[in-house]
Amino acid sequence: MTEPTSDTLLEVSGLTKHFPVRGGVLQRTKARVRAVDGLDFTVRRGETLGLVGESGSGKSTTGRLVLRLIEPTAGRVVFDGVDVLKLGRGAMRDMRSRMQMIFQDPYSSLDPQATVADSIGEPLSVHEGLRGAKRDGRVVELLERVGLKPQHLHRYPYEFSGGQRQRICIARALALKPDLLVCDEPVSALDVSIQAQVINLLKSIQRDTGISLLFISHDLSVVRHVSDRIAVMYLGRIVEIGDSEQIYTQPRHPYTETLLSAIPVPNPVTQRRRERILLRGEPPSPLDPPSGCRFHTRCQYAMDVCAVEEPVLAPAGRGSSACHLHDYGPGLGGGTVLDLEPTHRPVPA
Ligand SMILES: Nc1ncnc2c1ncn2[C@@H]1O[C@H](COP(=O)(O)OP(=O)(O)OP(=O)(O)O)[C@@H](O)[C@H]1O
Ligand code: SF4
Ligand SMILES: [Mg+2]
Repeated sequence: MTEPTSDTLLEVSGLTKHFPVRGGVLQRTKARVRAVDGLDFTVRRGETLGLVGESGSGKSTTGRLVLRLIEPTAGRVVFDGVDVLKLGRGAMRDMRSRMQMIFQDPYSSLDPQATVADSIGEPLSVHEGLRGAKRDGRVVELLERVGLKPQHLHRYPYEFSGGQRQRICIARALALKPDLLVCDEPVSALDVSIQAQVINLLKSIQRDTGISLLFISHDLSVVRHVSDRIAVMYLGRIVEIGDSEQIYTQPRHPYTETLLSAIPVPNPVTQRRRERILLRGEPPSPLDPPSGCRFHTRCQYAMDVCAVEEPVLAPAGRGSSACHLHDYGPGLGGGTVLDLEPTHRPVPA
């Protein structure tokens, strides 16, 4: 791993979280859920990294690890040059004001008994000691920034729609002017028309403040609209990471190709409708991931080597992909670009 440069805000290496599964009278560890299993990625200043993958692939766990809301089993998280996992309680509290998170469900993220002034103002009281009119003044500025009004100050969460509540959560997250905002499925619970408004709000805040976003979603079409780069996760691993447009138009990993084929729009290159690739079987359990390439039990291109040898992330196009096709694909050589036309696909072994 290279040392962080001034351009790098967050650098994650070897990040791993295995949750113990306990059982029996003595509550001994019987097994481990390998939720996140050795992630390497960076987020630059002012950039949005999209984190995409199906349910259970480890996206939320990754977000929580980055903010140290849970402790990793192994790995490093370096934020603005500081090794976050080595910080004591007090220093971590200060650091946390620079990294904030918003969640899928704005309903459960807000205390139903607290007014907007109290919800958004709490971090200002705790970290900056602001009270009364001074605090309310700052809260009003934040409300206006997220498209709400000063008269909303003394209202309660039940008086707002889902989209407005997510705006309140965004305002609270921005109160301490963080450098990184981890957005965990921030629009998944909202109506489609409202989703675009909230995404546009996040983008305009990013333009104004230069904040970095780690944007988590199971939906590649949502991630594409916000992200500069995208990391694709499968069973606790990143299988492909790279430039957002390239991932969308020229995926290098068969799993990314599968996610793309589920989006009901034409192939942007050929303008022909993408053929839907149906995944074989259920996602394997993270308790016992498949040997070799974790995707081999469902991959239409799987070769003998795939069940035995784990592919590593290697440069492919303007990013990296972990797939043996780049080395062993029939006649395809290094840096294979998957062809979205099915007739050109390599024959599975
Ligand atoms: N506290 C926990 N204890 C045990 N297992 C956990 C815990 N939290 C998450 N897991 C497991 O870790 C795996 C990854 O979960 P995670 O919530 O990170 O996935 P996700 O990609 O965010 O999924 P979704 O799209 O459904 O939100 C899952 O198998 C999940 O059941
Ligand atoms: S390594 Fe093999 S199984 Fe895994 S994605 Fe590539 S072709 Fe498919
Ligand atoms: Mg999740």
